[in-house]
Formats: sequence, C-alpha cells, structure tokens
Amino acid sequence: EPVEISLRVNGRERTLSVEPRTTLLDALRERLGLTGTKKGCDQGACGACTVLVDGRRVNSCLTLAVMQRDAEITTIEGLARGDELHPVQRAFLECDAFQCGYCTSGQIMSAVALIEEGHAGSPEEVREWMSGNICRCGAYPNIVAAVRQAAG
Ligand code: FES
Repeated sequence: EPVEISLRVNGRERTLSVEPRTTLLDALRERLGLTGTKKGCDQGACGACTVLVDGRRVNSCLTLAVMQRDAEITTIEGLARGDELHPVQRAFLECDAFQCGYCTSGQIMSAVALIEEGHAGSPEEVREWMSGNICRCGAYPNIVAAVRQAAG
C-alpha cells in the first residue's frame, strides 16, 4: 500500500507517494528524478548512492524513504549555487578525479561531509574516511588530491 510522504530535498519540500519498503535511493531517483545519485551495489558496499542526511553521509540504498520524513536531505544536485560549483565539485574537475564518473557523485558527497567533519587532514586520513566509496577505475590518487585541495 503506497503512502504519501514529504521529504525535504535540497532545500525544497517534496511530496511523493512511495511503498513503505522504498529505499531513499529509489525515491530520489525514480520518484523525484534526481538521478545524479547512483545505484551501484544496492546493498551498502560501494558508496555510489551517498547523500547527506542532516549533514551526515548516508548510503541511500540502506535507508527507507519513509524514515527520512523529518530530515534535511542533500544530493549532488543540491551542491552548486546557481552557476557556481561547490568547491569540492570544482576540485574534482581541476584534479581530474574521475574516469568513468559513475562513483563521482557519491565520492563528492562523501568528501563534502568528511571535510566538514575535519577528516581531510592528510592523504591517509582521506583514504581512510573515504574507504566506503569504491572507484572501480582506481582513480584514488586524483580523488584524494581533489579532496585535499578542496579542504584547503
Ligand atoms: Fe548504496 Fe552501493 S548503491 S552502497
């Protein structure tokens, strides 16, 4: 039985109808058309689906949409301010921090959170705190460089 819920996504209140078992990932992609968030493994192992929930990193494939009714959700689509990219997005471009790009949204969302949390102090720290974000192309050196650059 579908239920009607409202979610606050990228600063906007959105009303949608979901099955109680619909993941936040599927709700974002299939109900709200926010396809920047990617589905890799759909079981919490790759980080491609990373979004921010109240500023914290969450694998959106592991949480249900109905559980996030009171939360502030940020996706990759919510990072730029008009024409101006978020500093982490800019750093990923400048450092060439992707190859196929499939994991990139998740990498960027993860990076935004860990910089905010103060976990980007060294390349080793970045590697450790981003270990939940898998890049199958192995672009890690440039990803780490981008995160360090954005962290200033
Ligand atoms: Fe959610 Fe892989 S799709 S962690």
